[in-house]
Amino acid sequence: MNHIPHINYRPEAKTECMQANAEGLRRAADLLLAGETVAVPTETVYGLAANGLDAAAGARIYSVKGRPLDNPLIIHVARRYRDFTALAQAGLLPPLPAESVQRSLFEAMTGTFWPGPLTIVMPKGRAVPDEVTAGLPCVALRMPAHPALLALLDQLPFPLAAPSANRSNRVSPTAAEHVIEELGGRIPLVLDGGPCEVGLESTIVAIEADGCVRLLRPGGLPREKIETVIGAKVQTQMSQHVRLSAPGMRNIHYAPRTRLILASRNDSIDTLVGEAHGPKNIGILLLTGDAITPPDWRESLGRTFVHVRSLGDHGDGVLASRRLFLELRELDRLGLDLILVERTPESEKGLWPAVADRLSRAAAAFSLRPEELDAAGRQVDKTTLD
Ligand code: TXA
Ligand code: MG
Repeated sequence: MNHIPHINYRPEAKTECMQANAEGLRRAADLLLAGETVAVPTETVYGLAANGLDAAAGARIYSVKGRPLDNPLIIHVARRYRDFTALAQAGLLPPLPAESVQRSLFEAMTGTFWPGPLTIVMPKGRAVPDEVTAGLPCVALRMPAHPALLALLDQLPFPLAAPSANRSNRVSPTAAEHVIEELGGRIPLVLDGGPCEVGLESTIVAIEADGCVRLLRPGGLPREKIETVIGAKVQTQMSQHVRLSAPGMRNIHYAPRTRLILASRNDSIDTLVGEAHGPKNIGILLLTGDAITPPDWRESLGRTFVHVRSLGDHGDGVLASRRLFLELRELDRLGLDLILVERTPESEKGLWPAVADRLSRAAAAFSLRPEELDAAGRQVDKTTLD
């Protein structure tokens, strides 16, 4: 896309926040029908939605977010698109024959996991504008599980393109007030559907022509669940070709304003704090432990301020995922010198890979030297997932 509409932002312009009830849904539908952008709740993170079949509405999303134009958008579909034929008839997917391996994998996955936190990348159908896919020949589709968004999609004659409703490269919003923080004054409406249940973005897989299912981004649906359904491994290696054809896989993402580092070991909190020599005001985010701060601890470490938060996840990463972005956002508000995060458990199971992915991207923003980045903030010459 080479044309971005000019939008005259007025910081004082009010962004309305409405409950996702009948009245809120009607207002959202009216705005979307008029080509506007509206922030909507999903079960993963809040999305910045617009008509997914309208190039101009899609372009507005890029402008509001400050998103690079080569980073394609996910199209969110209504329940009426639950089967392949409906998606092909609407021109979202090409009319693949019933015996096509891509089609049968798509049907197996959507039959089990939609609505839910799984985005599938397939060859695109004729109705999908190039602006939405950033010129790629494939489209990313997802049926979200949030009841309010499903109800909104039922009221609309088109699907919704929606990236996460944050400014580009920042922590994704998991509550309506986070969206206001990110995009207040830039959009007319946030539909408040409560805190997001999953708390980080959907898992993205591409179904390739030869039937290979490739992981493009770990997310809210564990990889092993997909493998059980397709009876094969989900590939995690990104070939050079895939990297080039999915330019949105950036390395730096989800970054708070405060410098963030990952602890080098899974270790006791004292050792972790010991690693962060220098800064006086530090925040510590524990993933697995409980946030117990001995009363004399702060002084013994010679810190002026230590703030400890814990995601308290003793299980498979579901709890950690739910509150990860929220806790990062809250620590970010405290004006700390540094946020130190406990190392993620080495598990390939559950949602830990997704948590590890988001944290390493948040830390990458602070650990890479300028010469290691290209103009778009992408790490030069390295395989990345987004
Ligand atoms: O859970 C989610 O997926 C959330 C909610 C709002 O649904 N959405 C979300 O969107 O995370 P976004 O734009 O922040 O991330 C979507 C990623 C992009 O970074 C892009 O690389 C990838 O999806 N993507 C979109 N379309 C693609 C395509 N046609 N081919 C390859 N990757 C694609
Ligand atoms: Mg995002």
